[in-house]
Amino acid sequence: MVGLLARTLSTDVREEVIHRFAEPPKLSLFEEDKYGVLRHARVSRVRRLSRRYLLAELELLEQFEDPPGPAQFVMIWLPGIDYIPMSIANSDEGRIHIFFSVRGEGTRALANSKGKMVGVVGPLGKPLAVSARSKYVLIAGGTGLAPIIKLARGLSDMGLLAAVIWGTRAREDVGEVPFYFKEVTGCNLTICTEDCSVGFCGRAADLAEEVLPDLENTQVVAAGPNDMLITVADLSMRVGIDPVLILESMVECGLGVCGRCVLGSTGLRLCRDGPAFRASEVMDYLVDVALRRGQKH
Ligand code: FES
Repeated sequence: MVGLLARTLSTDVREEVIHRFAEPPKLSLFEEDKYGVLRHARVSRVRRLSRRYLLAELELLEQFEDPPGPAQFVMIWLPGIDYIPMSIANSDEGRIHIFFSVRGEGTRALANSKGKMVGVVGPLGKPLAVSARSKYVLIAGGTGLAPIIKLARGLSDMGLLAAVIWGTRAREDVGEVPFYFKEVTGCNLTICTEDCSVGFCGRAADLAEEVLPDLENTQVVAAGPNDMLITVADLSMRVGIDPVLILESMVECGLGVCGRCVLGSTGLRLCRDGPAFRASEVMDYLVDVALRRGQKH
């Protein structure tokens, strides 16, 4: 792969690539499988949208075989540092946007990676199928907004978007996020803050509680922390909607091999069967996880 890339790059960049990609993650098992191909990308820009949220723009030096669909993700290899799963917030020919917050070594490295080369595997997971017969209400918490941005863009283009609700902690976390959202989707974001400093006073799930009982012929899609997903699923099911939940979980290989992302007794693999699931498929798993977390505290 390095040889192929080297023919298209200047000497300086080529040396950098060869040096940095001397030890790529062990993906040789998938060399013949487009699903597991490691592509080279340059982090062309990192924007701080607010105190908590950042946006990394990655320029792919080798194109994806198929354009990413809603809810799909990539594995980003930061040479010598980490190999992390990240949702695709937006994509245009040759570019992907990653909306994230710094949570560990990998995301810290991504935040400081402007101008650097990284490896990208993807798009991974199943694209979320959209029904043209319904309107959609999208609900996100924190970095759960990432897959919702991409979905909202597609739905907005199809005229199917009813509302997008996003919850975060405080005004300082909001910053330019709604402007970025509008830039990509052409739509407005309904903001909720836990400290009541801007927008709706409360969590995204609290606003969902007010909105969902009035919905008819509507699809609900939610992405965010487990407790928010459980609340949204519970509220939706009470009004006869089986919502789609986009899960965040421990993903290690992203390729369906290691078994790290298996969702308990469902046997479903988040990375290959998801990350979007009907609530009826994964509700027991989510409640189990919440109970186990509660026992630990
Ligand atoms: S992360 Fe390895 S099987 Fe899903």
